[in-house]
Amino acid sequence: ELSSEIPPPAASNVPQAQPVLFPIQPLNRFHGASATIKRPREIAHFSYDDVHGYREDESGINYYYRPPIGADLREGFDTFQYYEDKEDPHLDSLLKTLVSKEKREDKKVQTDFVTWRGMMTKIMTVPYDMFAEFEMLATLHDGTIYIHEDFDAKAASRAAENDPPRTNRRPDPNQQSREMMTYWGYKFETLALIPDVPQKVSPEFIENRTKAVVSNYAQHCSIVRTAFGPHGIVLGGEVDGLWHPKSSDPDAPIPWIELKTSEELPPYPHNRDILKFERKLLKFWAQSFLLGVEKVIVGFRSKQGILKVIDVYETVRIPGMVRRGTGCWDGNTCINFAAAFLTHLKQTITGQGVYRVRLRKRGTHIEISKTAEQGTGKILSKEFLDWRSED
Ligand code: A3P
Ligand code: MG
Ligand code: MG
Repeated sequence: ELSSEIPPPAASNVPQAQPVLFPIQPLNRFHGASATIKRPREIAHFSYDDVHGYREDESGINYYYRPPIGADLREGFDTFQYYEDKEDPHLDSLLKTLVSKEKREDKKVQTDFVTWRGMMTKIMTVPYDMFAEFEMLATLHDGTIYIHEDFDAKAASRAAENDPPRTNRRPDPNQQSREMMTYWGYKFETLALIPDVPQKVSPEFIENRTKAVVSNYAQHCSIVRTAFGPHGIVLGGEVDGLWHPKSSDPDAPIPWIELKTSEELPPYPHNRDILKFERKLLKFWAQSFLLGVEKVIVGFRSKQGILKVIDVYETVRIPGMVRRGTGCWDGNTCINFAAAFLTHLKQTITGQGVYRVRLRKRGTHIEISKTAEQGTGKILSKEFLDWRSED
């Protein structure tokens, strides 16, 4: 039955007829100073254009421009251009960008793990997210473990919860549907971003952005190299924009920003209101921390969707804000948990084949089981495998 002990390293080398279990509790084994973390450094980037076509450039980068307070985040919902992956994106665009880099530099990217930032956010926040659940697939190839979300499992779990994938359906814009809540987030981005530095954008564009069509087709993604304790990791993820232009020094940190919306706190907040917001801050912090995003900019909106207040948080200061607040989460614990879990993955994913990494809803353990004895499933693209098998 379920063991509450940390599985000893040796246990991980037996064939995985039974899932190997990584217990989440007790968290006190992750307390204390955090595992050494390297500052994430960008090694490559790519964009998606306004039809979500892949482009290996910076065309998807936008710049922050303070959005107008009082703006109605519901406005324009009926023309929302909502992009959602219909097919499993695997790691394709991340690997494509790495292949180009390797060809250009004639050098392999060597690291212990490659994944989307979203997977690491999920892992890092497990200690404090009672509702977390995920299914990921992982494979070891040439010394690196590649991980991505199990797209089919996610679709199935959505269907089971009777929560169909969001579409461009147009319900009553006064009703606060899920679609509308999603729209608010992108509307805020459209209000807070301009395509270039303000000096190079026309006053008309800035004036008219409250009327602009909201679309999430275009994106810019940064690929960074970072480390959790002894584990090197390459992460790819979307960045919302720049606070000011990138420095000409390639080693300087990039002034990325992350935009978020959140419901405004009542004038006299109860502890539970603060708790709810500080729990959200965990997600904001983890997501931004992983790519080295320096600022998290929160647009506080009324229940109805009117933009009320904008707060700019330095990502590094968020854990301290919460420590002095409700203390509902601890960043070092998240980092140590993730570092220990990566150690566990390395000890478990040692052979060929595909592994499933799963946390069930209200699960007490992360489970790892083998789903294929051979090959790399669909985790690695043909382009990547062909390139890596060349001499
Ligand atoms: P907000 O979270 O600010 O409301 P991101 O913040 O990661 O850049 O994503 C931009 C917006 O996409 C979010 O804005 C939200 O509207 C939508 N979004 C992202 N992930 C989502 C999810 N898992 N479910 C619903 N909407 C999501
Ligand atoms: Mg984003
Ligand atoms: Mg955002």
